Amino acid sequence: MEKLKKAILQKGKVVSKDVLKVDSFLNHTIDPLLMKQIGEEFYFRFKGEHVTKIITIESSGIAPAVMTGLFLNAPVVFARKKKSLTMTDDVYKETVFSYTKQEYTDITISKKQISEGDRVLIIDDFLANGEAALALAKLMKQSNATVIGIGIVIEKSFQPGRNKLIDKGYRVDSLARIASMEDGKVTFVEEKAEIHPK
Ligand code: G4P
Repeated sequence: MEKLKKAILQKGKVVSKDVLKVDSFLNHTIDPLLMKQIGEEFYFRFKGEHVTKIITIESSGIAPAVMTGLFLNAPVVFARKKKSLTMTDDVYKETVFSYTKQEYTDITISKKQISEGDRVLIIDDFLANGEAALALAKLMKQSNATVIGIGIVIEKSFQPGRNKLIDKGYRVDSLARIASMEDGKVTFVEEKAEIHPK
């Protein structure tokens, strides 16, 4: 997605050879117009899949997920990392290990929010080691919903996440695929023509 790649090149900061800071449009300040375009791009990629629910994880997955839900006309459910005061229902729970933070986090979704027949699109802001996306997919397995695909805003293709998810049989669609961030410079994976007609 060219507009996203342009934002990464113009506003992203390479913090180290494997960490990209995108606080000015995705992770802290959120650019609503760019999020809308991201939602539209996911719509074009997944519109034939009869998606009934979008699943993401708090916090930075929520903005792109909501915009995708708007275009696909599907509700958005986010997995919580902390127990909510009002969440007294039974929950599905998985543990995510973050390589970046070297810590385990329990994530939960109320059983009431997912139904057995749901066709789920998982959306997240970053794909690095794939642990968050895999945990979301496992939550969906617990609920007997079907994961039709995983949509990622920024994929760091030099990290193992993509292959882990593909090896498990999931379709992974990433809007920007970063091949490397050596010497402070972002290089994207060469890709064929864009799917989006615009
Ligand atoms: P994984 O989910 O793919 O296994 O990745 P990992 O454990 O390494 O990532 C942990 C957190 O760091 C996630 O956010 C993930 O989105 C984020 N992250 C990973 N690589 C980068 C990067 O290069 N740049 C930025 N900006 N973030 C990265 P989180 O802790 O869940 O945070 P948030 O969603 O609450 O913002």
